[in-house]
Amino acid sequence: MTNTFDKIYQASIDNPEAFWAGVAEQIHWYRKWDKVLDDSDAPFYRWFTGGQTNVCYNAVDRHVEQGHGDQLAIIHDSPITGTQQKITYSQLQRRVAEFSGALVACGVERGDRVIVYMPMVPEAVVAMLACARIGAVHSVVFGGFASNELAVRIDDCTPRVIVAASCGLEPGRTVEYKPLLDDAIELAEHNPEHCIVFQRPEARADLIPGRDLEWGEAVAAGEPADCIPMEATDPLYILYTSGTTGQPKGVVRDTAGGIVALNWSMKNIYDMNPGEVYWAASDVGWVVGHSYIVYAPLFSRNTTIVFEGKPVGTPDPGVFWRVIEEHDVKVLFTAPTAFRAIKKEDPSGSYLEKYDVSGLRALFLAGERTDPDTLQWATEKLGVPVIDHWWQTETGWAICSNCIGIESLPVKQGSPTRPVPGWQMQVLNDQGNEIKSGDIGSLVVKLPLPPGTFPSLWNAKQRMFDSYLKNFPGYYETGDAGFIDEDGYVFVMSRTDDVINVAGHRLSTGAIEEVLASHPDVAECAVIGVNDALKGELPLGCLVLNAGVDRDDIEIVKESVALVRQKIGPVAAFKLAAVVTRLPKTRSGKILRGTMKKIADSTEWKMPATIDDPAILDEITDSLKVLGYAQG
Ligand code: COA
Ligand code: AMP
Repeated sequence: MTNTFDKIYQASIDNPEAFWAGVAEQIHWYRKWDKVLDDSDAPFYRWFTGGQTNVCYNAVDRHVEQGHGDQLAIIHDSPITGTQQKITYSQLQRRVAEFSGALVACGVERGDRVIVYMPMVPEAVVAMLACARIGAVHSVVFGGFASNELAVRIDDCTPRVIVAASCGLEPGRTVEYKPLLDDAIELAEHNPEHCIVFQRPEARADLIPGRDLEWGEAVAAGEPADCIPMEATDPLYILYTSGTTGQPKGVVRDTAGGIVALNWSMKNIYDMNPGEVYWAASDVGWVVGHSYIVYAPLFSRNTTIVFEGKPVGTPDPGVFWRVIEEHDVKVLFTAPTAFRAIKKEDPSGSYLEKYDVSGLRALFLAGERTDPDTLQWATEKLGVPVIDHWWQTETGWAICSNCIGIESLPVKQGSPTRPVPGWQMQVLNDQGNEIKSGDIGSLVVKLPLPPGTFPSLWNAKQRMFDSYLKNFPGYYETGDAGFIDEDGYVFVMSRTDDVINVAGHRLSTGAIEEVLASHPDVAECAVIGVNDALKGELPLGCLVLNAGVDRDDIEIVKESVALVRQKIGPVAAFKLAAVVTRLPKTRSGKILRGTMKKIADSTEWKMPATIDDPAILDEITDSLKVLGYAQG
């Protein structure tokens, strides 16, 4: 072992407690921990038990107290409204303290949940930090979800208050949040006591007297509140993500682990120095937004960009380059799909010539595997390292990455490089045995997971165990399949469950099936993720109708598409469906979704030995052809 990365990695594996205790010295504690790693309830591990800290203090107040109050904390760049806003750390501290006061005045106490349903405006960040400041647990819900999804989250985390904006803005469309919020509260069994609404000029919301307050009115009713010491293991937030059913999983992040790991990651993974500008072009509603728009850059005193726009069309495929030049962005983090969108509209990269992006040091991609074409295009055009790194909502930060802040390792196309310090990866077969390098199996992480990961699912410890810890005792099951090569590089190939990735957004085919099955004419259905050149995957549904239904298939397909948009939201991007007479199944009745996907994607497939009726695959193939798939 000669290189720096190997040494640091090995130290983190040989003695995780010493490693993370050292790293934890870099953050502010009101009280140091009693135990670095608490294994008293294994396989549920906790980090830094007995310690006390505060996320907001580490993200904001500490920098002001150390004399950096005039540094920019947030740049809001909104090409969609044509506005920009710059907020210093001192200004952020004041705004957050005031909004914490508003929450307190609404009755929010330590441990209460607060849902944040907001687009990419600085107030979303303020609301999250304000919760952290007073020990409330935030749960941010992505604006592209419909009322029903919001209602499910309201019932699961039972918020005392919901903070929302009056609207979000999509190209050519104003998404009014307030009617969606009102419908969700109507649908939910739990009712929040108050809603605080940030009114945007593009669409003002009607308020319900007594329950709803305008942002300014709520702030005026409170007194600025201070950070309070929180237990290291207190929950910071709940973030819902797709599982295999319509009931999303409430991933919990605890207080201290998140600060320690994210703060460490900014230097060691992304090579960021305090004072520099970092841009994660994602949304606060996703884990990337939580970790790398809000928390990590603020912990490490960077300036974070809150970008309200799209990679193309706001107004053109040069917008990313404009933002990089204008704000002197050092590292950009986004999803490969964003680069595919830019490449599609500007294959020669002509828009790049209009801007000076020479300040950019690296591009990080995650959310889905970076395809070689995109990797090559981005590397060529930007002339900086393009780093594919792999992580999940559950893990909160990267499992595998090229840690350029420690040492740049050689890139292998199609691989997110090697496990990051703290992560011990293995590939196991279905029997739980390790398999030889190069062979595909389940990607698992040896327990304990490092700090900053999820200690559990909200109110669902058993589900946590069943979903992630049961199949491979002693390991965390990532739900991804892949292999590790002879140099220790990890290759992530596919999911082992029903989760698909659409434009870097994680969706459950099971959840879409549940909605389709609720259509009165649908007897059964199967949803698969088919390959798509722009979005990576798209959901495609095959519908079997109830006997005796003699309505036009096209009408039923249209209604099904509308139903998914209404129940899950536009983010599901569900537009492809076909009516078929039967679904291909095994003799024991399992739907052969894997075979359907291979046929749709025109990849090699074998007739499953257990299929009950091989002839049905011909009909499925014809239907897929009509939709533009299975082209041979
Ligand atoms: N609020 C309301 N609706 C939203 C929304 C939001 N926050 N975000 C997306 N939607 C809508 C879109 O308007 C679109 O609606 P439409 O069917 O009426 O066109 C639908 O949801 C699907 O959105 P999306 O899959 O994002 O497709 P798109 O065509 O609008 O844009 C990309 C395609 C590639 C430009 C876009 O997906 C993108 O920028 N991706 C970056 C990936 C990313 O940020 N991933 C997060 C994890 S890192
Ligand atoms: P999410 O929880 O939304 O972040 O989605 C996590 C899932 O996205 C992972 O389990 C993977 O299936 C996929 N994913 C994320 N990043 C990568 C990557 N770099 N390579 C391959 N798959 C990825």
